[in-house]
Amino acid sequence: MTPTIDLLTRHRSIRKFTDEAVDPALFTRLIEAGQAAASSSFLQGVTIIRVTDPDKRAGLRAAANDQAYVETAPEFLVFCADLSRPMRCCTAHGGVPAKGLTEQFIIATVDAALYAQNIVIAAESAGLGICYIGALRNDPARVTELLGLPQQVYPVFGLCLGHPAQDPEVKPRLPVGVTLKENSYSTDGEEEAISAYDEEMRTYYANRSANIKVQGWSDQMAGLLAKEGRPHMLPFLRSQGFLTR
Ligand SMILES: Cc1cc2nc3c(=O)[nH]c(=O)nc-3n(C[C@H](O)[C@H](O)[C@H](O)COP(=O)(O)O)c2cc1C
Repeated sequence: MTPTIDLLTRHRSIRKFTDEAVDPALFTRLIEAGQAAASSSFLQGVTIIRVTDPDKRAGLRAAANDQAYVETAPEFLVFCADLSRPMRCCTAHGGVPAKGLTEQFIIATVDAALYAQNIVIAAESAGLGICYIGALRNDPARVTELLGLPQQVYPVFGLCLGHPAQDPEVKPRLPVGVTLKENSYSTDGEEEAISAYDEEMRTYYANRSANIKVQGWSDQMAGLLAKEGRPHMLPFLRSQGFLTR
């Protein structure tokens, strides 16, 4: 329909990269594209740490469940939700920042995600591949220490960037009718649609070029949601000054 929509629907995560560096001028443009994202209350509550130090890369890999591409991708960015900067501005203007509000946490986290996704789209439009790394939150305290993050800042996720050295298949998404509703929430027709989607996913997983498995989508969710994922996040976020009220 448009080249941008075509690009978006061709997305797939890339987990193997060539050694070719990302062109420095392109890298700067990607960051500028990220900066251009909409920002709630114009807070711009994001700091990105570009990690070039090999020792820090190795430390981040260890924190992220030993995922090799965290260390080997030509570029690795850590997206941090950052309330500390606007709070410093508040103090500089004689104000007393209200801290720990859940709303502020949401604003900064959403800002980080929008910023990152702008970079992702820009990168993919230039032929680069990306992989988000939420696994940094396996050990957020270690990431925080490695990167010297102050209070009111936390690492939301990482992002691997580089030239793709693989060409994986596009992963099918839920049918639009399952995620798009009109005027009110409804689960009408959901069971049948998800069952058809499970079949589509089983075929995808059985036939894809790497990491073949026997699985649908809903059973994957059963496994995921039955376990307590990263229960350390609330105490960690509170220790960084977030989510106290
Ligand atoms: C916030 C976020 C965190 C993610 N964390 C990881 C990760 O730690 N490791 C990984 O290999 N993929 C990670 N992914 C990639 C997802 O597994 C992937 O996007 C999803 O399976 C859909 O596949 P696709 O991106 O190829 O379409 C993450 C994606 C997002 C959006």
